[in-house]
Amino acid sequence: MHTYMEKKFKRTLVTTALPYANGPVHIGHLAGVYVPADIYTRYLRLKGEDVIMIGGSDEHGVPITLKAKAEGVSPQDVVDRYHNIIKKSFEDFGISFDIYSRTSSAIHHQTASDFFRTLYDKGVFIEKTSEQYYDQEAHQFLADRYITGTCPHCKNEHAYGDQCEACGTSLNATDLINPRSAISGSTPVMRETKHWYLPLDKYEDFLRQWILEGHKEWKPNVYGQCKSWLDMGLQPRAVSRDLDWGVPVPVEGAEGKVLYVWFDAPIGYISNTKELLPDTWEKYWKDEETKMVHFIGKDNIVFHCIVFPTMLKAEGSYILPENVPANEFLNLEGDKISTSRNWAVWLHEYLEEFPGKQDVLRYVLTANAPETKDNDFTWKDFQARNNNELVAILGNFVNRAMVLTHKYFAGKVPVCGAMTEYDTQTLEDFKNIKKELESFIETYRFRDALKEAMNLARIGNKYLADTEPWKLAKTDMNRVGTILNLSLQIAANLAIAFEPFLPFSASKLRKMLSMPQCDWNRLGDTDILPEGLQLGQAELLFEKIEDAVVEAQIQKLLDTKKANELKNYTPQPAKANISFEDFTRMDIRVGRVLEAERVPKTTKLMKLKIDTGIDRRTVVSGIAEHFTPEEVVGRQVSILVNLEPRKIKGIESQGMILMAENADGKLVFVQPSAEVKNGSQVR
Ligand code: MF3
Ligand code: ZN
Repeated sequence: MHTYMEKKFKRTLVTTALPYANGPVHIGHLAGVYVPADIYTRYLRLKGEDVIMIGGSDEHGVPITLKAKAEGVSPQDVVDRYHNIIKKSFEDFGISFDIYSRTSSAIHHQTASDFFRTLYDKGVFIEKTSEQYYDQEAHQFLADRYITGTCPHCKNEHAYGDQCEACGTSLNATDLINPRSAISGSTPVMRETKHWYLPLDKYEDFLRQWILEGHKEWKPNVYGQCKSWLDMGLQPRAVSRDLDWGVPVPVEGAEGKVLYVWFDAPIGYISNTKELLPDTWEKYWKDEETKMVHFIGKDNIVFHCIVFPTMLKAEGSYILPENVPANEFLNLEGDKISTSRNWAVWLHEYLEEFPGKQDVLRYVLTANAPETKDNDFTWKDFQARNNNELVAILGNFVNRAMVLTHKYFAGKVPVCGAMTEYDTQTLEDFKNIKKELESFIETYRFRDALKEAMNLARIGNKYLADTEPWKLAKTDMNRVGTILNLSLQIAANLAIAFEPFLPFSASKLRKMLSMPQCDWNRLGDTDILPEGLQLGQAELLFEKIEDAVVEAQIQKLLDTKKANELKNYTPQPAKANISFEDFTRMDIRVGRVLEAERVPKTTKLMKLKIDTGIDRRTVVSGIAEHFTPEEVVGRQVSILVNLEPRKIKGIESQGMILMAENADGKLVFVQPSAEVKNGSQVR
């Protein structure tokens, strides 16, 4: 049954998930949310439609307060720092927000507070007292994230109160064995606290009807997630927290309580619209002829499809989203992107290392967007798409058309003479591009849309390769003129078609083609550039990326992986105590290696002659896989000299060399940090 009706709208409100201001933004953010939203918005603007794109930083929530504590600064300091970094990254990548604001602003606090108060006055909330962990040393209630302890499932001792990152199980703080406060380290106690709950269960029928019946056209991943939440049955959700960072709960007796971050953040879309349009914001939020679209990642689906719509519905005067084209996740070189593990390509770092190449990343992230399933970003793919697609197809075609026109026609658009059947056929091939691009973009299929635009460049490339105008220059300049005219018209089409995707390159291309305006409605036309028009200079749109450049990026990630392994190294548990007596019985000396040779027919063993200061003796040591004899001779080492002699492979070993293992499992010598006398005691 198909119940969705194509509605007509007068304007579009595009919202983009507000990123947490507790770290910079990376390629996953760009691919999942901001590039698709930007493509969509730029497209609508090009068509002359009434559209605004709203963004901002999400500046509340527990992780921000934890980070501030860890750094010994205020939460405001943390969000100020990252808000500015994030805002700049978006600007640099051409994400064309009409406003990028923040939830710590006064206007947001007021808006969120009023919103809560309206629902409160309408009697929407349930008030409930429950027991929660309280830190008696820090004098505060503990959010789940603030509590660590042992996971009841896998016995990981560093599980959080909301999740065990070792086994992935989601937990309640009360599930933890040996709970400890992350703030003071003390054992928390249970204490009563009052909170306000949004009774989602009461809105289940409305949600089922609105989503499951009314929005069958939503992407399958979004629709499916909503259906599974609804089928499980909804529970009331607390919309307040005991925390001193956020929007205070505007109710008497709510001291020390703030709105839950997921209650205030989506209201940020409203606050930011208000900030942008103080007088007219309501028509974007309260008029049925506005189409609201939320661009988000899949982890935000429940909040944008269930919780926020329930809030809007309960308030009563707002419209609901028309679509929520959530994306899946982008992985990086096969692993989940992670801020805490520094497993990411940070946008500000990318721009330092690839200055001017914003469009290359925008292209790769769109071509490989995680629209229907998780996808992987790899540097090899980045290089291949740049070299084989942007350079070899799009850049190459435009460059040939430009250079040939400068060469044969002094850079003026030549006259288009009689067309051959092949010319007509070529034009036929891209006549439908406008319709096709529109239908892909309007259904949020940006990968397919981009492919379509690239096909146009392919058509151009093939046309030049087949007609070979450079061979006709001596015999038939009229024909050359026709071919170049048509090629330039294709290039002009490319400047329009790529504008939503690659705004920097499209604008460069328009400059080359002396096309000041970009009029979407001319897409598909073959007379965009008038005959005789003087073109600008030919410039390269893209350049090849060499192997060494991407190999350096891959190496950087490998280094990160190493560093993480070091951090995650779990040492052997401590051995049972020994007495001081026991310790003094070990005679450890510093000695020097005089000779070294491999023990024949073994891979691990090396026979060493050591000057211990007291004597010269032979020691057999298992280091042959880690060092060559030459690397060892001359070194000072630590040696346990009173270890009972043992026969190893027929050689009597008189002592033991002290070694430790680095992150790769390679052995290293435990040696004095400065030269000492042979025979010095280690104690
Ligand atoms: N900060 C959230 C995240 O990064 C997204 C918030 S979206 C909003 O997952 F709707 F709450 F603003
Ligand atoms: Zn676990």
